[in-house]
Amino acid sequence: MAFKVFTPKQVIFGDNAIKESGVYFKDLGKKALIVTDSIMGKIGNLSILRKVLEDADIKYEVYSKVDSEPTDVMVEEGLEIYINTKCDFLIALGGGSPIDAMKAIGAMVTNQGHITEYMGRIIENCPPPLVAIPTTAGTGSEATQFTIILDTKNDIKMLLKGPSLIPALAIIDSQMTKTVPPHVTAATGIDALTHAIEAYTSKLANPLSDTFALSAAERIFKYLRKAYKNGDDLKAREEMALGALEAGIAFNNSSVTIIHGMSRPIGALFHVPHGISNAMLIVKCLKFVVEGGPSYFADIAKKINLYHKGITDTEASKSLVDEVESLCRDINIPTLKEYGINKDEFFANIEKMAEDALASGSPANTRKQPTKEDIVQIYKSLWE
Ligand SMILES: NC(=O)c1ccc[n+]([C@@H]2O[C@H](COP(=O)([O-])OP(=O)(O)OC[C@H]3O[C@@H](n4cnc5c(N)ncnc54)[C@H](O)[C@@H]3O)[C@@H](O)[C@H]2O)c1
Ligand SMILES: [Fe+2]
Repeated sequence: MAFKVFTPKQVIFGDNAIKESGVYFKDLGKKALIVTDSIMGKIGNLSILRKVLEDADIKYEVYSKVDSEPTDVMVEEGLEIYINTKCDFLIALGGGSPIDAMKAIGAMVTNQGHITEYMGRIIENCPPPLVAIPTTAGTGSEATQFTIILDTKNDIKMLLKGPSLIPALAIIDSQMTKTVPPHVTAATGIDALTHAIEAYTSKLANPLSDTFALSAAERIFKYLRKAYKNGDDLKAREEMALGALEAGIAFNNSSVTIIHGMSRPIGALFHVPHGISNAMLIVKCLKFVVEGGPSYFADIAKKINLYHKGITDTEASKSLVDEVESLCRDINIPTLKEYGINKDEFFANIEKMAEDALASGSPANTRKQPTKEDIVQIYKSLWE
């Protein structure tokens, strides 16, 4: 069977990546809709982008209301501005939230109906050119065909997709990430690590996604603690930005599995940010899945030097899970209780969450197929 691998058409990364991007924007259109959040204006990232566009003689409008994970309502608002002000391409500046919002707005420029009608369907028509400038090192959305949008009527985080949603241009400039506060560095970094581990151990992995996944895991294990402890460590920021991109390419061409499948319902119902809900789940989920394919987890252990002669794959995969646990501890990942979630309310929703997790399709890519009861038990175990 042949494998298909999709990546952004162009990736610019390294020092001054954004400042040197004007020439590439010019090829994409004459007027951009910048999709961002209100923080980007305050910390100076938006003015850097404005200057690059002005120097390149490109007009722009700004939609800066993506202050939480994106919803169908934001998509409608952004679309209205795009159409009314006659933009012809889109630039997202921010974490995964503005990038995903941009993709969904772009999709609705060229596809009929309402965004909620696209759950479970491929978004076919190509949106206008999309540019992603990530300011967190986490989601990898700059390289993926996915957008995750909250359906506000049904409280479901919709996983929408189509290869046409992969940005034409991804600009990875770690300068843009140096202001990320430690708790966001931690959550987004574990999101990226989860992408890498899930992509590598997914049933849908292929040799190229494996290459990106292993490299991403190596970078993230080596640099996440450093980026968390000292946000000004630019080397660590740069490695994390690259690791997140690699992990994005990896899962885009393989898949995520049980952790993401179980994480989205927690995010939708309890408004826990995506990276944190992944981080809350990762250890319990890994403990459940490793026996479905210890050699895959052992490969990752080998890559990060946890493997030594004589140990079995099962022992190596256990040492990987221990290392993930220790990393989560070192970067202060909260439990559901510490995050302020009400236990009774959580338990009352476990059945729905387990159904939504399975319906997303992601758990089916796991090496050890979970039943609904398995998922219920893992949700319950988060309170032990
Ligand atoms: N499309 C995909 O492939 C994909 C993959 C994983 C996750 N996601 C989605 O991405 C979203 C989460 O994205 P995220 O984790 O990057 O978080 P985010 O975009 O919501 O940002 C988190 C917080 O960090 C702040 N922030 C971002 N950059 C900053 C900077 N440079 N300095 C200071 N503060 C900064 C934001 O303002 C926000 O308050 C979720 O909706 C999730 O479902 C998408
Ligand atoms: Fe993710």
